[in-house]
Amino acid sequence: MNIILLGAPGAGKGTQANFLKSKFNIPQISTGDMLRSAVQANNDLGIKAKQYMDSGELVPDSLIIDLVKLRVTQADCMHGFLLDGFPRTIPQAEAMSDSGINVDFVIEIDVPDNVIIERLSGRRIHPASGRVYHIKYDPPKRDGVDNETGDPLVIRDDDVEETIIKRLKNYHDQTEPLVNFYANYSKDPKPKSLKVNGTASPESINETLKDLLG
Ligand code: AP5
Repeated sequence: MNIILLGAPGAGKGTQANFLKSKFNIPQISTGDMLRSAVQANNDLGIKAKQYMDSGELVPDSLIIDLVKLRVTQADCMHGFLLDGFPRTIPQAEAMSDSGINVDFVIEIDVPDNVIIERLSGRRIHPASGRVYHIKYDPPKRDGVDNETGDPLVIRDDDVEETIIKRLKNYHDQTEPLVNFYANYSKDPKPKSLKVNGTASPESINETLKDLLG
């Protein structure tokens, strides 16, 4: 089962991917996490990507497309994968299609912009595991520390209001057109497009997705 999760920054793609990857036993491929690891490792990709990420811009397609094409050929993707944050532009989707990578489901998580700003301002993450919390909607058991490891939680560098607004604009301009791209997909097999209301609770969205995906 190959799934794409589409949605604005903060729509809950990572949160739902965490549920779905265990339910369907497929890996979550988060291009944001891959890029943040590269930044952390200070490697060539990380050095190139950091300036774009910090300013809320998308990294150039040329930096990301080959990375994903290579990732989906790895053994753990044999029975499917969950793309979280890719594709983000029409050229990324076309590159995937041209490489013969088929998609079964495109899930759009729909959340209004005003809700996004509150969500991202309150987000806290555990970088090592990718676990995501929210100070109001999904707080950790102990303030500021990860439930499993007790490590300190951090605020992402791009979760500041000015950058969030830029990320939202980029989403509407460059990523949202993918909804129509997949709805009007002309090749076979055509992915099934699904849309869920992302303002419900994380658990109820998860139940809806499980029902829709069977
Ligand atoms: P990336 O890491 O992919 O960030 P994003 O798309 O901006 O998405 P987020 O991780 O911010 O949000 P999310 O939808 O996963 O929400 P989450 O579940 O965490 O990308 C970062 C950057 O990398 C990009 O800006 C770009 O520069 C670059 N990049 C990455 N991929 C790229 C690509 N393909 N091409 C080019 N550049 C690329 O939830 C958010 C918060 O809300 C959390 O606190 C959570 O607890 C809370 N929450 C979640 N669901 C709910 C709910 N239902 N109710 C209440 N609270 C909720």
